Amino acid sequence: MRPDSGKTVVISGGTNGMGRATALARLARGDRVVVIGSDEARGRALREAADSPRLDFLRADLSSIAENERIVARLGEEHDALDALLLFANRVNPKRRETVDGLESTFALYYLSRYLLGHRLRPLLDAGRDPLIVNVAGVGNTAGRVHWNDPQLTGSYGQVRAQLQAGRANDLLGVAFAERAEGRARYVLYHPGFTRSGVDGHPNPVVRGALRGLARLFARPVEEAVRPVVRWVDEPPAERLTAVDRGRPVDRSLSTLDPGAAARLAEYTEALLEERRRGVTSRGAASSRRRGPSTGDGRPTRGARPCTPGSTSSPPNSARSSPGTSPAPGGSSPTRRCRRPPRSS
Ligand SMILES: NC(=O)c1ccc[n+]([C@@H]2O[C@H](COP(=O)([O-])OP(=O)(O)OC[C@H]3O[C@@H](n4cnc5c(N)ncnc54)[C@H](OP(=O)(O)O)[C@@H]3O)[C@@H](O)[C@H]2O)c1
Repeated sequence: MRPDSGKTVVISGGTNGMGRATALARLARGDRVVVIGSDEARGRALREAADSPRLDFLRADLSSIAENERIVARLGEEHDALDALLLFANRVNPKRRETVDGLESTFALYYLSRYLLGHRLRPLLDAGRDPLIVNVAGVGNTAGRVHWNDPQLTGSYGQVRAQLQAGRANDLLGVAFAERAEGRARYVLYHPGFTRSGVDGHPNPVVRGALRGLARLFARPVEEAVRPVVRWVDEPPAERLTAVDRGRPVDRSLSTLDPGAAARLAEYTEALLEERRRGVTSRGAASSRRRGPSTGDGRPTRGARPCTPGSTSSPPNSARSSPGTSPAPGGSSPTRRCRRPPRSS
């Protein structure tokens, strides 16, 4: 059901912190808001705080590919169109954890879920009014990188390393998404800066206490940090891609926004998803993909690729296919041609 007024907004990670503040602000403007989070109690608390029939809470562990697919299918059943997708979900993992899909958890939640939701909800967004995707991460920060020889960080894990890698992956996700000309959704990469949110999520009580102290002294209030996100839903930028770091436009020539690296990450991600679609679950077969399409010195390895140039692969399911739109994350037509990844970056 589409409301007569207001927009229809989906918020991943909307049960807490900045996502929650954005959900409440958009509800106050008359929107229908769908919030996705993994914690039932937080969802209940949000429902009580909002006290609005225009709020839906969907519980899901977005670090799982199947859970993202379930959410996409559910949204497709319940909505003809979506106007905005706002991506906030993230969790810090001090120790390396693997998801049900055998992926490093930060990569899966902070990056891959955003990839899946953005691409698979595209048909619904294309049917929306001034459709918009906002990816709230760390654009403008040049620390960290995608570890092409080991994107799943099997060899050397650290929570900062994992967060920075997924942050840089989100930068590249925005670039690759915007390069696809046929979708209507505008993509915004947004770095809110140090904000008084997320500090309660750290499992270590000492770190949690230190973060709280620092946040009290130096961090921005949550409402201030999300103000641009709330506004963009009403007034999406005209450009296909906008990158903003704490109110300032980000220089598009930054190496972290390199289109070649963006295409390479999209290839890696599609191959990873294709592998799981084919049900390649054995440790040995999957681990070559988890290590990434690289020789270890940053160059791609032909043998590690799941398809050869000129071959084709099928698209994944999407919420709804509509004429003139493509549900395939990596291709512009339902049957996608495999390309060789760029050799640079
Ligand atoms: N806070 C800062 O200083 C800062 C600075 C720069 C960038 N950022 C970025 O801004 C974004 C939002 O940060 P925040 O401070 O608002 O974070 P937050 O308060 O920790 O909120 C994170 C959200 O993610 C959800 N989430 C965690 N694991 C999930 C899972 N497995 N499945 C579904 N949802 C899950 C949480 O809900 P549940 O508990 O219900 O699962 C929560 O709603 C993040 O991407 C962060 O990296 C934050």
